[in-house]
Amino acid sequence: MPIADQMVKMVEGASMIRKMFEEGAKLKALHGPENVFDFSLGNPDVPSPPAFKKALRELANDESLSHGYMPSPGHPHVRQALADYISSEHGVNITADSIIMTVGAAGALNNILKALINPGEEILTPSPYFVGYNQYSFIAGAKLETAASDDNFHLDLHAIEAAISEKTRVMLINSPNNPTGAIYSSEELAGLGDILNQASQKFGRRIYLVSDEPYRKIAYDVDVPTIFQAYSHSIIVSSYSKELSLAGERIGYLIVHPDAEDAQLVYGAAAVANTMYCVNAPSMIQQVVAKVQGISVDVSIYRRRRDMLCEGLSEAGYEFNVPEGAFYLFPKSPIPDDIKFINRLKEELILAVPGVGFGAPGDFRLSYAVPDATISGSLKGFKRAIENI
Ligand SMILES: Cc1ncc(COP(=O)(O)O)c(C=O)c1O
Repeated sequence: MPIADQMVKMVEGASMIRKMFEEGAKLKALHGPENVFDFSLGNPDVPSPPAFKKALRELANDESLSHGYMPSPGHPHVRQALADYISSEHGVNITADSIIMTVGAAGALNNILKALINPGEEILTPSPYFVGYNQYSFIAGAKLETAASDDNFHLDLHAIEAAISEKTRVMLINSPNNPTGAIYSSEELAGLGDILNQASQKFGRRIYLVSDEPYRKIAYDVDVPTIFQAYSHSIIVSSYSKELSLAGERIGYLIVHPDAEDAQLVYGAAAVANTMYCVNAPSMIQQVVAKVQGISVDVSIYRRRRDMLCEGLSEAGYEFNVPEGAFYLFPKSPIPDDIKFINRLKEELILAVPGVGFGAPGDFRLSYAVPDATISGSLKGFKRAIENI
């Protein structure tokens, strides 16, 4: 094998995803893209806010704009703007030197996991979980362990407590959640904080909480509580991929809670990892997002689509939890074999992702970051699929 042994499995995983895309592209070429209902990708399609576009134009016209290297954690004035906003949003005094600007939330996760984990140690995450966590764990040399969520896809604190071992180094949560749309309450987070404190004491080693929050601004009448109030040994990881529809621009950040155990060491190690992986996050887009703190896309568009999809699928007889945030619906497959059901949907030219990829066989994921017409056009096919399976 010319490639590293440990990469073989990762390449196989990637080629499965590529195959799914290729099949979708083939169906679109065959039937016309407007006749294929593609719910497989979480690619934000709501326009970026006008204020973002204005800030981008102003910056491009600024003759003093420079394009050189900068300190690896990012432009100091950008981190200061973020620190001011995050301090008010999370009610904790954050300074610019707790923040690293990163290449998306993915870059932030890679940095912090590399900083915290020795090869062979464990990350614990509730399942279902975002598929990318397999890759980030792989890069960090960590083992990804899971604790099943409860029936409503919220935290099962008993399951988490039972799954923590002396090798658990990081608890990784994601709220609003991909793929379930669940938003964890402040009571759940407080309970989690207690468990992590007790387990850290029991095993004589701090377990850090990494909270992956790129969907924080996409919530439907539900508060997204801050993890910083529940557990001080935490790191927030986020990005502008969803809240400003900037997924392709690759801009995000991580914030180490100022009162976290060994906060400076953790921050320093994450900053060095950032240097090693990417030197620094892209300069121009850092400076644009600094000017539009607190602004997000029109969430009512996602809410309308959520409601259309939930209403249509409920009438057809599907069972699901109504998502509280993000832009995914995670219904139960009408038959235990979710892959078989996904293939049945494909016969209706509907593309979805099987739950097994999220550690949740028996369910499937639909992304409603799609035009309204994709939802309305798909409903008859969803009905036929559940009636005929
Ligand atoms: C839960 C979750 N975390 C992290 C990411 C990565 O986000 P980014 O594109 O900002 O790197 C995604 C992307 O879909 C996601 O869904």
